[in-house]
Amino acid sequence: MTAIVPIQQGTLSLAAMHLRGGGLVAMPTETVYGLACNAANPDAVVRLYEAKGRPRFNPLIAHVASMEIAEQEAVFSDQAREIAAKFWPGPLTMVLPVAPTGTVSDIARAGLDTIALRMPAHPGALAMLRTFGKPLVAPSANRSGHVSPTTAQHVKADLDGKVDLILDGGPCERGIESTIVSFIGERPVLLRAGALETSILNEALGGTLVVRGEDDGISAPGQLKSHYAPNAHLRPNADAPEPGEGWLGFGSSPIPGTNLSEAGDLREAAKNLFAALRTLDAGFDRIAVAHIPNEGLGEAINDRLARAAHRD
Ligand code: TXA
Ligand code: MG
Repeated sequence: MTAIVPIQQGTLSLAAMHLRGGGLVAMPTETVYGLACNAANPDAVVRLYEAKGRPRFNPLIAHVASMEIAEQEAVFSDQAREIAAKFWPGPLTMVLPVAPTGTVSDIARAGLDTIALRMPAHPGALAMLRTFGKPLVAPSANRSGHVSPTTAQHVKADLDGKVDLILDGGPCERGIESTIVSFIGERPVLLRAGALETSILNEALGGTLVVRGEDDGISAPGQLKSHYAPNAHLRPNADAPEPGEGWLGFGSSPIPGTNLSEAGDLREAAKNLFAALRTLDAGFDRIAVAHIPNEGLGEAINDRLARAAHRD
């Protein structure tokens, strides 16, 4: 049984103790809950991969609480620094060349000479990072391939007994994972649509963002087609549920079921998405999902729904 505890000085110290000993601690971020361990400790990272059942070729995001630590881990171009200044702390992950002074273990980077970095905005995550004082790698705190957790209870449902402590920071405000952008090539490349709208990022990049098509291959391993999957079979873009299907609605509608946002607000829908999928998954084998406009955060929501619907 893993304890769920509120975030206070005492529980942060306890969590830091677990982390220093190579343990695993789940913590809230503004996007989804992360499963954190000491990024510099390869044994802890192996434990983390095992707890999630995550393939080892899928690298982790290192979380930092300051630019000083970020610059110790990665090489920032002027443009990358400008983007970090604009969007950090916040739901943007930047893929950069590893710095010679980097401390993140090879295995957490899956052997790559690049590193994914993020400074989360959740006060609980920042407090945890400051208490620990060093980078924490933290993938979403779910079993690999399952729906990402947006509450402490979701984490417990997936990983009870496999992690040392769960820090409870309430429901995540954003509800979907960070946007990932790579600064490795000549132009910045979008690797994952996420909680920071693509259009806002692209505008900050002066319109230079490369948004790749489906057939370009897998650039971030999290982009595997089947991902974020509930057990139930998902049917996106539906007009109405068929007999036996659960209904996930969007916008005002007379159809009974779960609604992502009665007001048709994409931000609210993103926040509710993973919890709604978990709830419906518990009651139905098949879930029909209403049409979600493919603009703003709708892009990231539709990306998650398409992956949840895909069966290999
Ligand atoms: O919002 C988030 O990003 C959450 C919270 C906890 O911070 N974390 C998260 O982590 O979504 P995870 O492990 O579920 O997704 C990390 C993604 C994966 O798709 C991984 O392949 C990609 O980041 N990634 C990590 N390092 C990379 C690298 N060097 N190059 C390309 N992609 C990388
Ligand atoms: Mg994940």
